[in-house]
Amino acid sequence: MTKVIGVTSGKGGVGKTTIVSNLGVILSKYFNKNVTIVDCNVTNSHLALYFGMYYFPVTINKVIREGINIEEAMYKHYTGVNIVPASLSLSGLRGVDVIKIKDVIQPLREKNDLIILDGSPGMGRESMAMLHACDKVLFVTNPIMSSMIDVVRFREVLNELNKEALGLIINMRQGMKNEMGNDEIEKFTEMDVISSIPYDKNVYKSLTVGSPVFLSRPDTRASKEFLKVAHWLVGEEYQEGGILNFLQKFSIKNIFQNLS
Ligand SMILES: Nc1ncnc2c1ncn2[C@@H]1O[C@H](COP(=O)(O)OP(=O)(O)OP(=O)(O)O)[C@@H](O)[C@H]1O
Ligand SMILES: [Mg+2]
Repeated sequence: MTKVIGVTSGKGGVGKTTIVSNLGVILSKYFNKNVTIVDCNVTNSHLALYFGMYYFPVTINKVIREGINIEEAMYKHYTGVNIVPASLSLSGLRGVDVIKIKDVIQPLREKNDLIILDGSPGMGRESMAMLHACDKVLFVTNPIMSSMIDVVRFREVLNELNKEALGLIINMRQGMKNEMGNDEIEKFTEMDVISSIPYDKNVYKSLTVGSPVFLSRPDTRASKEFLKVAHWLVGEEYQEGGILNFLQKFSIKNIFQNLS
């Protein structure tokens, strides 16, 4: 079973951290999975900020630098998802060899159903370290031609690394004329499109309250797509028209769990 999924992209700012944080809370809170999400973008760390966390004494930087157990850098969010943040300060980069990420995440494999690594964009050393550490890769991109060239290049790198690509998540679709359709994207990249997430201002707004959008606006268009991806990851069928049904089912199921 796939344990460690790496989330990567060619360009920066395409939505990796947004996707990792929403999948993390959905899979933990609604699918009852043990999930840990790890900030592997150590030079531009944002993951903890997306949960409103600004202070954390132990980070992945310290784990890598001092060889301590990664569980010391794990913070449990109220939804159940475990977050391993990276240091927010520049000085936190001193003495951090990102290649060690693969070794430091090993203890997480035993205790989690799924570990999701939030990567950095491009093909630099940091991104490669994350790819070495994961079992399979999800690639995030915007639906424009220049980004597809990145996807094709990445696919070649993944082949060389012997890593399986789970597929593409197309984020921030706006329905503009210059956007490529999913069929065209699949043909061009020879990769499956797992999900097409619309541009949704509620996603951006959720940043200001430090909470993944699914928690504040499960009814919004992007949330519906995050939920679909979560279903796909756990191999469950998503029922169309589903968010409210899904949430209702969850609360009913929980009442029974609480009574038993
Ligand atoms: N579907 C969406 N609709 C609207 N805004 C979005 C959407 N997805 C992400 N964003 C916004 O785009 C910005 C970049 O997103 P995010 O930080 O997740 O990208 P990233 O790929 O992790 O960036 P980096 O490469 O810097 O790590 C954020 O302000 C986020 O709120
Ligand atoms: Mg990011």
